[in-house]
Amino acid sequence: MTTDLTPDIGDPNETLTFAGLDRKTAVTTGSEWWRSAVIYQIYPRSFADSDGDGIGDLAGITSRLPALLELGIDAIWLSPFFTSPQHDAGYDVANYCDVDPLFGTLADFDTLLAESHALGIKVIVDLVPNHTSWDHEWFKAAIASPEGSPERDRYVFRDGLGPNGDIAPNNWESVFGGPMWSRITNPDGTPGQWYLHIFDISQPDLNWENEWVRAQFRDILRFWLDRGADGFRVDVAHGLIKEEGLPDYTPSAEAGSMGGGAVPLTPEIADPIDAPTPPYWAQEGVHEIYRDWNKVLGEYDGERVLCAEAWVEPLHKLAHWVRDDEMHQAFNFTYLSANWSAEELRIVIDTSIAAFATVGAPSTWVLSNHDVVRHATRLALAPGHLQGDGIGPKSVGIPDPADGLRKARAATAVMLSLPGSAYIYQGEELGLPEAIDLPDEARQDPTWFRTNGERYGRDGCRVPIPWEANTPSYGFGPADASWLPQPAGWDGYARDQQSGVAGSTLELYKLALSLRAESKLGMGAVAWITDLGFGDDVLAFRNGDITVISNTGAMPVELPVEVLGELLLASDPVDEAVLPADTTVWLRALEL
Ligand code: NOJ
Repeated sequence: MTTDLTPDIGDPNETLTFAGLDRKTAVTTGSEWWRSAVIYQIYPRSFADSDGDGIGDLAGITSRLPALLELGIDAIWLSPFFTSPQHDAGYDVANYCDVDPLFGTLADFDTLLAESHALGIKVIVDLVPNHTSWDHEWFKAAIASPEGSPERDRYVFRDGLGPNGDIAPNNWESVFGGPMWSRITNPDGTPGQWYLHIFDISQPDLNWENEWVRAQFRDILRFWLDRGADGFRVDVAHGLIKEEGLPDYTPSAEAGSMGGGAVPLTPEIADPIDAPTPPYWAQEGVHEIYRDWNKVLGEYDGERVLCAEAWVEPLHKLAHWVRDDEMHQAFNFTYLSANWSAEELRIVIDTSIAAFATVGAPSTWVLSNHDVVRHATRLALAPGHLQGDGIGPKSVGIPDPADGLRKARAATAVMLSLPGSAYIYQGEELGLPEAIDLPDEARQDPTWFRTNGERYGRDGCRVPIPWEANTPSYGFGPADASWLPQPAGWDGYARDQQSGVAGSTLELYKLALSLRAESKLGMGAVAWITDLGFGDDVLAFRNGDITVISNTGAMPVELPVEVLGELLLASDPVDEAVLPADTTVWLRALEL
């Protein structure tokens, strides 16, 4: 569409409201790179395989850095590549200071880091402090040592209940299904104490009340900071401290398995005054740990960042994670959990900006990651799907891929226009859908096993990504097969088929990222356009010199002349001044 510039919009101050915020304070000042950065999540085992074992590796990532530079991101976050038995795809760490041979060596990491930095790309490492692998030498020592020993005290061990101690210490349910406790067998063969694991049986929780554990992690942080890492994404940042006495707790039926909710958003749900705090999430005691880590990062030059993976709601509580002397960012999972609805988006954007502004931080935005159904599928699912459950061949309401992709492109165009920092998950720039038809025997997520196949889990969003069409494994690596089978028919998603092709999802991302950088949208502010008669299905706002209009409804809407301007980006083709269903446009905003 080339629309006419229609400069007369009257007095812009009368047509705009500011979501209850002063435009100048909506995003606080500060030049740190992470405030406005676009951070690209790499899931190493599924990104690029250099050695042909069917599993991606660090050398593979290094070889593909030019594609990321071309995409226009600022930083990469690497999901775990540390020594691990891989029971939870590396989130079960057996040695925090080494690289698992599956992924390469420390020298490969150093090369990846150096080459990324040479290209101006920062590198964020994933830190998993809530639990270790049961293969970690600390846990091996804990079970080999007597009850009450310092080695035991590094983990959360308790006696069982009942005359024989064969009842778990409380009723907590693991995130992956089944009890949150497992019982060990003592070295002499007798049944022993129980240990806590919020996740899989192979992921025993550390005891963060123990000063020795805290000291170890200061050293682990320094190990990666010394090598030049630009920061850490902190796994389960809200789980480290448990409520004293470990009281019984039964979560509500709506709580998502990763902690995210699944009900449609209302202002009360987005940020209720108060919400119950489960005894294993979001305890006050975690904050002093991050204040301590903040000091460790402060020992280093440059702007190193701590980003909390904390499935904490409400947003005003999540904002506590990013107070001045704690973390710098927290993933905004309330945003990720919002349905494709202008009303919900408006609520969550407003609430997020307001909540983080109270602690002097911008919000983050995210639509996909390795734990949730890819947004090119999820946004077309019926509301109410629980995060972390996945979908598979027997799921009801499997959406039409074209519908999902259209919504995903429109949603991404909203996300990348927002002030603050945005996270992109590998493959979303190709429009990849969830892989739904994975054979049962290929599934690897512990959720699948711990629920006897009742919940599919997260494998569908973790399938290796396609680089080149009509090649073995779509160019993922030299082998024909990969650790999770790639679906047939992914040629069209391959990067080489989209690169340079106008209208492709890849080119849409590149355009959005370059306009975002040029117009400094990441450092801007949202100014809602509320009085131009758009219906409830339309989201319309300005950020700096760009007007963003998104139609989340099923019917096309006419764009009022007041907003027409140079069309900079359209998530799908638009015709003259009509915005089709599920489409977002960016227009050059007229002077305010
Ligand atoms: C959150 C991670 O993103 C997820 O993949 C993992 O299974 C759990 N934490 C446990 O580490």
